[in-house]
Amino acid sequence: MTGASRFVRACLRKPVDRTPVWFLRQAGRYMAEYQAVRKHHSLVEICKNPDLAAEVTITAAEKLDVDAAIIFADLLLPLECMGLDFEFQAGEGPVIHSPVRTAFDVARLRTDRASALAYVAEAISRVASHFRDRAGLIGFCGAPFTLASYMIEGGGSRNYIHTKTLMYREPSAWQSLLVKLATVLREYAAQQVQAGADVIQIFDSWAGALSIDDYRDFVLPITTTLVRDVQALGVPVIYFGVETASLLPLMRQTGADVLGLDWRTPLDKAWRELDYACAVQGNLDPITLFSQPELLRRRVHQVLDRAASRPGHIFNLGHGIVPETPVENVQSVVKFVREYTPQPNAETRP
Ligand code: CP3
Repeated sequence: MTGASRFVRACLRKPVDRTPVWFLRQAGRYMAEYQAVRKHHSLVEICKNPDLAAEVTITAAEKLDVDAAIIFADLLLPLECMGLDFEFQAGEGPVIHSPVRTAFDVARLRTDRASALAYVAEAISRVASHFRDRAGLIGFCGAPFTLASYMIEGGGSRNYIHTKTLMYREPSAWQSLLVKLATVLREYAAQQVQAGADVIQIFDSWAGALSIDDYRDFVLPITTTLVRDVQALGVPVIYFGVETASLLPLMRQTGADVLGLDWRTPLDKAWRELDYACAVQGNLDPITLFSQPELLRRRVHQVLDRAASRPGHIFNLGHGIVPETPVENVQSVVKFVREYTPQPNAETRP
């Protein structure tokens, strides 16, 4: 079985020869090869240069020998074509210069320039022709809520006060913002699929800031529309968020093929509560990568034990690799996943 078919089959809950593995933020600052490119180019420069973006994507996936590569890009890129400038300030994270705060600000956002994001699709086609079937290729975009929160807060946030204020007090502006985002994101995902992405991951990283009721009333409908639109392009969708234990049953209602799990909920419990109705991805605590080999191996095997060789598990972390992570420990995890797999006929397992 090739990396691509192993990964895509697991997304669709079909039996595989062994559990596929890849890592959130597998190309990033913890890797010397990335640092070397980054020394001469800003993050956005790398994203906008298909040669560099493809190189960074390929180098990381090959160095780790994973079953899937995720295209090197950033969640915030679509903001620019909608009319919002942003930058990454060292140590501060992203800063959006004129945050969206009013119905007027929402009305000014453009939805007709998604073609400006074609550099991401260009990078995807280079990575696709490099790997062919050897590794799956993941395209991605932000989810409407998480991107709206960056647009409104102007960066990361602790309490999402501006976001929730607009959501509660200006529901029609909120709805219009989400619809505009979904319009751009659908076209952006379509470009990526057309260029060769096998799967699209939708990052709703900050959905965990929402109560169940707010998620259901203000976020679930548009997210469901986006998930279905992306699936209609002919690829599986992975829907990922952090601190989502209580939201998982609602996130399941989007119809996503795979839900990404953070590390706080045991994988077996989360999957059972989802009635095994979708595949799951996760969910090792990324900080476990700072432990010694014996404990790391045990924790990796515990995640796999919880998945119990059921079809539809993709091994990953519960959130992204952090910059200080020793790269050899990430490579060890790949080894531990491979050595574990008992390779029973997964279909005959209870
Ligand atoms: O290998 C990969 O995972 C692909 C690349 C990737 C990046 N960003 C590159 C990047 C992916 C999938 C993302 C998604 C992304 N971007 C998310 C969702 C994922 C998640 O962690 O939940 C979010 C929230 C963003 C927005 C963003 N971009 C933040 C909050 C930051 C951190 C700022 C900082 O300085 O730590 C970034 C920067 C960023 N995007 C880096 C990378 C490799 C690190 C910064 C650098 O090289 O300067």
